[in-house]
Amino acid sequence: MDTKLVNLTEALASFDDVYSPRVVARMNDYEVRIAHTSGEHVWHVHDDTDEFFLVLDGRFDVAMRDADGRETTVELRKGDTFVVPRGTEHKPSSQGGSILMFEPSGTSTTGDRYEGEIPDHVDSTTGHELT
Ligand code: NI
Repeated sequence: MDTKLVNLTEALASFDDVYSPRVVARMNDYEVRIAHTSGEHVWHVHDDTDEFFLVLDGRFDVAMRDADGRETTVELRKGDTFVVPRGTEHKPSSQGGSILMFEPSGTSTTGDRYEGEIPDHVDSTTGHELT
């Protein structure tokens, strides 16, 4: 059990990197992570887990492909929540902002597989400790 008090505003102010999540809490087998967002992420898939997003600030869009390859995009704003279902190809993008994620420990930011090259501004990670 995690007994550390974490203030999200202070936690977000403690780092600048985009798409490089910090773990703010762990519970059971899950982690709460926060990240700054800006620019295009990479198309990727989490085969075995859904992925929860809460927009803390700014804008965060999630493009998804259905089984036939058709794309839809949900446009999220501060306070919006959204779950990407497991097995769904998705690519976040953002005009700038910050998000909170809730997902199983060990979940990679770039999924079990991704498309193309990982851009320099996207950190392929299972999350970093807050420092
Ligand atoms: Ni994802």
